[in-house]
Amino acid sequence: MTLQDQKFEDLIEGISIRGYAICDDFLSAQEVANLMITFMLRYNAGKFKAAGIGKRNEFHLEKRIRGNEILWLETDSVDAAERVLLDRNSDFVSYLNKTCFLGIKDTEIHFAKYDIGKFYSRHRDVFQAQKGRVLSMIYYLNTHWVPADGGNLIIYTNKKNIETAITIAPIAGRLVCFESEKLDHEVTETFAERFSVTGWLLN
Ligand code: OGA
Ligand code: NI
Repeated sequence: MTLQDQKFEDLIEGISIRGYAICDDFLSAQEVANLMITFMLRYNAGKFKAAGIGKRNEFHLEKRIRGNEILWLETDSVDAAERVLLDRNSDFVSYLNKTCFLGIKDTEIHFAKYDIGKFYSRHRDVFQAQKGRVLSMIYYLNTHWVPADGGNLIIYTNKKNIETAITIAPIAGRLVCFESEKLDHEVTETFAERFSVTGWLLN
């Protein structure tokens, strides 16, 4: 089994047992650095929009406070750094479809930037169209992140009516994957600029 397949297996095991999984070093330091160059080029070119006003409809169970700015990626991008991410994501989709028969047909994926003081209140990732969001994929790009920077992802899991909150720091290279329509989650206030890529695998 390749190292990549081993990471995919670990993710799938976590998702099937707990509904979420965390994989560190899913992206290498070099891949993160390359992505950040593309990210900032696009950001500085004014391509990002406040979340919820983008080209695709955003829908959440209730109106939530969502303080980030986003840019949807073109899945046929020829940018080398984006290509690496999109191809890795497609490899995971192929692996999921082959081993778990999840029937993922599409992916939507965006860059996200939270400025200092921003957060995203507790919510669930649901989608308006017929296509469902099966898995949420969050790739973090924050080198030198320290606990005082806040900006944690909190995932809420529920077992026998006992709620547990899992706190996940958005450190560079880390991928978090969870069942989109089943798990509540939030992003706590960030005290440093926070960079990530969010993807949804759709059926
Ligand atoms: C989202 C989301 C979590 C994060 O984009 O819907 O919940 O850690 N993101 O950025
Ligand atoms: Ni979310």
